[in-house]
Amino acid sequence: MTATPARRPTGFYPVFLNLRGRRAVVVGGGAVAEQKVLGLLDAGAHVTVVSRETTPRLEDLAAQGAIEVRRRPYRRGDLADAWLAIAATDDRAVNDAVWAEAEEEGIPLNAVDDLDHCSFIAPAIHREGDVTVAVSTSGKSPALAVRLRDRIAKLIGPAEARLCDLLGELRRELGARVPDARARTELWYRIVDSDVVEFVRRGDMGGARRRIDHLVGGTVASARPQPNRERGIVYLVGAGPGDPGLITVKGLEILRSADVVVYDRLVHPALVDQAPSGAERVFVGKHARGGGGGRSPEQTEIDELLIERARRGRVVVRLKGGDPFVFGRGAEECQALRAAGIAVQVIPGVTAAIAAPGAAGIPVTHRRYASAFAVVTGHQCEGASALDWEALARMPTLVVLMGLSALPEITARLLAHGADPDTPAAVVASGTLPAQRVVVGTIATIAALVTEAELDPPATVVVGEVVRVGRLVRERAPRRAAAAVRP
Ligand SMILES: C[S@@+](CC[C@H](N)C(=O)[O-])C[C@H]1O[C@@H](n2cnc3c(N)ncnc32)[C@H](O)[C@@H]1O
Repeated sequence: MTATPARRPTGFYPVFLNLRGRRAVVVGGGAVAEQKVLGLLDAGAHVTVVSRETTPRLEDLAAQGAIEVRRRPYRRGDLADAWLAIAATDDRAVNDAVWAEAEEEGIPLNAVDDLDHCSFIAPAIHREGDVTVAVSTSGKSPALAVRLRDRIAKLIGPAEARLCDLLGELRRELGARVPDARARTELWYRIVDSDVVEFVRRGDMGGARRRIDHLVGGTVASARPQPNRERGIVYLVGAGPGDPGLITVKGLEILRSADVVVYDRLVHPALVDQAPSGAERVFVGKHARGGGGGRSPEQTEIDELLIERARRGRVVVRLKGGDPFVFGRGAEECQALRAAGIAVQVIPGVTAAIAAPGAAGIPVTHRRYASAFAVVTGHQCEGASALDWEALARMPTLVVLMGLSALPEITARLLAHGADPDTPAAVVASGTLPAQRVVVGTIATIAALVTEAELDPPATVVVGEVVRVGRLVRERAPRRAAAAVRP
């Protein structure tokens, strides 16, 4: 028999204390002490402050009878009856004395900024209703803990707090309906991983309850929940222009609750990774970023796939590059889904039409140079074109998506319809991504410059005086010297 190796202590033991009605003593009366007192009062503690001087806020609280203040220096015995103590002074000798008493009496003590005199430390917290997130760095860097807390806080808002309340209300009922503890645990995860929070976010608490009810119904009917037809929904989510950080917060939340993700060629793999590990992933582009081959599914096949999965009760995320409604066939998918009676919701995204020029420092509008812009597809620029080229040639800013291969025809048409050959033009390839490249020229030169630079798609063309603004931005930036092509 081998002995279990001894576990090495790894740090502080995290807990949430119930201080309601219990005495807490704070030694010190400055701004830090004030913050500690407010936190203790929020937790329902009876607070005693020991300090000759106190902040105006602490004075107010004392005048209202919300706290007791001993207006004198700390003396031994002040921790009598205390359940917890905080030393918020910058006097090490005082901390030493408070620590000695606390240790002798077995009272947990936190001495602010003095780890040697701490039997507990306070994490950086974020509270939203009854949801509390606490971040600790074991006292090594409170500033880092605060910043990490801030990042996490962005994921937890009023909807999560309301969902927490709802789940709290349902706890007893669910215990009775699903007596098997294991099935119940699985069910709780299924509920919180589902799109219930979306109903809560829309303020549809009735819908949220019905959704939970369906999930519970499935669990009660069998060990595995039966897919529920009514539950099926398709979210058309804009994945943004390339950089995975440019999806919306809402889009990301929905993606993280998907049962099925159907994604395009231009969607960054890091975003597809955000779907739950058990989610089905279906690639419907010809080839993914960076490789692969194969036949591109017809639009009708994609529509059928979305409809079929939704009918099986799945939460389907149709992840599309940029914004789903900008040259993304999002509208057609929406129509097909609606015609099939499938619930569909659109989560807009950041379109490459604006973000790719923006990432190159080119604004599509400018108070001085451009009070309007048009976005066209390059596919409309080849052969017989239905576009009004005279109007486009006069447009202050013209943005062309999918226009890389047709660039010589696009510039020729603009010139034929009266555009000035010296009008600045730029092409931004792989905008917002590390591989971003920008070629800058004029209507007369841009097509040749792009051929010379061997730019790869995806690329966005932008024509107009605004390109000059982008150029100024780049010329001023250090290590970004003016050049026709830059990585
Ligand atoms: C089929 S359209 C889809 C547009 C997408 N719905 C949007 O709103 O960005 C694809 C075209 O968008 C442009 N595009 C997409 N991602 C890009 C990127 N990272 N940089 C430059 N252009 C991009 C290219 O013109 C590409 O051919």
